[in-house]
Amino acid sequence: LLSVRAAAEKPLLQVLGGKRATQVPIWLMRQAGRYLPEYREIRSSAASFLDFCYTPRLAIEATLQPLRRFDFDAAILFSDILVVPDALGQLVSFESGEGPRLAAITGASDLAKLKATVDLARLSPVFEAVAGIKAALPSGVALIGFCGAPWTVASYMVAGKGTPDQSPARLFAYQQPGVFADLIERLVDASTIYLIEQIKAGVEVVQIFDSWAGVLPAPEFDKWCFRPVQRIIAGVKAIFPEMPVIVFPRGAHLHLQQIARQSGANAIGLDSAVDPAWAAGAVQSLIAVQGNLDPLALVAGGRALDSALDSLLHCFRGGPYIFNLGHGILPETPVAHVEQLVRRVRASG
Ligand code: CP3
Repeated sequence: LLSVRAAAEKPLLQVLGGKRATQVPIWLMRQAGRYLPEYREIRSSAASFLDFCYTPRLAIEATLQPLRRFDFDAAILFSDILVVPDALGQLVSFESGEGPRLAAITGASDLAKLKATVDLARLSPVFEAVAGIKAALPSGVALIGFCGAPWTVASYMVAGKGTPDQSPARLFAYQQPGVFADLIERLVDASTIYLIEQIKAGVEVVQIFDSWAGVLPAPEFDKWCFRPVQRIIAGVKAIFPEMPVIVFPRGAHLHLQQIARQSGANAIGLDSAVDPAWAAGAVQSLIAVQGNLDPLALVAGGRALDSALDSLLHCFRGGPYIFNLGHGILPETPVAHVEQLVRRVRASG
């Protein structure tokens, strides 16, 4: 009971629980990472990025680094969405400066080579890291776990790398719809199990990153984005009914109200292209919202940053709101600008 009461006092959990928060909670997507010199320093101590993610000592340290500098309301587990394909047996690596490389899935025979279910032993260092982070977390700070949404993860699995428009996965879904449905199905199961294990290890909120949700026509959006995410949320909540879930469907503007009403999520992360004045009426009236400062306004700093963040605080002051960026923080972001941001959000009350 004591730990339940302490948890209820964390501002992020207050907002996600539909309560009035004692302060506007703030955290930043990709808040650990390359814009921090101390991250770059420990990053060079691991042979590869996946090794880094699978070394609890390093994952714990990278997660905690931004909290030592900034008064954030949440920590987000340091890992990557591509550990799920790795744990399904797909070859995954990260080339420095080039992003992820995977052994591309081109058809049914490649899919058949994957494991039937996610290898939890492979992921056990991640759960060990969660437990270590939880034990070291400053009071008042909530721990967020995450996974990629099936469509976003599948787009990397099919292309074998990041692409500007996800055309390999979009084409695959038209040409081999049955095989693609099978891939998405496996990712729904794997992601649900992965999130449940993170929760058992200690995360208090989960976020589903659908970074590439914005490229699909409506029928494909429904099949490959909306329904799979809805099923993951239902699967998680079947085991943990009270677990707050944030969905970040980047670019899915026409679908935000459907997601708010029917996905089962507790909050929606808005990308920077969403008009806050519109979203306050159309989305925040239905569900808590998170976002959506342009990461480039944070790079710019100065008056551009102050006026953009003041405008967000003003637009979203009437309802449940979590301050964040509209996408991940950029590596070139000056640390001083993040300090400026947090100071000003805090001063707003
Ligand atoms: O504090 C945090 O939020 C860090 C944890 C985190 C990482 N990746 C670490 C990372 C999270 C939540 C992610 C999510 C992620 N990974 C997404 C969804 C969010 C988004 O930004 O759209 C996606 C699409 C990926 C896949 C991925 N991982 C790509 C495309 C790349 C290369 C591009 C890049 O940003 O470097 C990565 C590598 C990666 N993931 C790095 C970090 C810190 C950089 C690798 C390094 O430091 O060597």
